[in-house]
Amino acid sequence: MAVIKYTDKVIEHFKNPRNVGEIENPDGVATVGSPACGDQVTVFLKIDNDRIKDIKFLSYGCASNIATGSIVTEMTKGKRVEEAKKVTWKQASEELGGLPPVKIHCSVLAVDGLKAAIKNYEEKKLGIKHNAIVDENYIIERLEKIIYPKTGENIVAAKLVKYLKFEDGNLTIEITFDETDKFKQNVLEEIQEYMGEIKEIRKLDLRVVDY
Ligand code: FES
Repeated sequence: MAVIKYTDKVIEHFKNPRNVGEIENPDGVATVGSPACGDQVTVFLKIDNDRIKDIKFLSYGCASNIATGSIVTEMTKGKRVEEAKKVTWKQASEELGGLPPVKIHCSVLAVDGLKAAIKNYEEKKLGIKHNAIVDENYIIERLEKIIYPKTGENIVAAKLVKYLKFEDGNLTIEITFDETDKFKQNVLEEIQEYMGEIKEIRKLDLRVVDY
């Protein structure tokens, strides 16, 4: 089994994670799970005058998730909510000096936790409704959350998704892999999980095609 190499900064944040814990009576809180590995993260927010006054997290994930959770809290503490919303998993990973491709999904989980906690704050405290329109663009955005462990890109950027059509609740996705691709099954299962969360999709036709 190949040894996964981490940067010194990842190891340092894993060993001494910042902002671990809970916030009592948070203004925003969310727990999200990763379909890639089943791990979870919870993010708590205290907001004052539109700024993140305090942020804490609890990780039920791996070393990379603890390190990204830690760096994301450092990157967003004291920031305006609108600025914090723009933080991406790529920036979090870069801030840590990079993550191995098979561990990129852990940073996606940490940033998703932050974004879900902000969404919870906006719904609970500001009364903002987040009813997304489910169309092909929305579905592509969801697919962009799925990381191809071979390259560390999302499966859309990695050009694995060759065709997508969403009509009358029926979704067709065509996806391609190398014959020997050992990540094929993981990616297919993740697509099924992510798409299964969208109630507007009544039927998923997921096809593996040769290109
Ligand atoms: Fe699950 Fe990293 S392997 S969060």
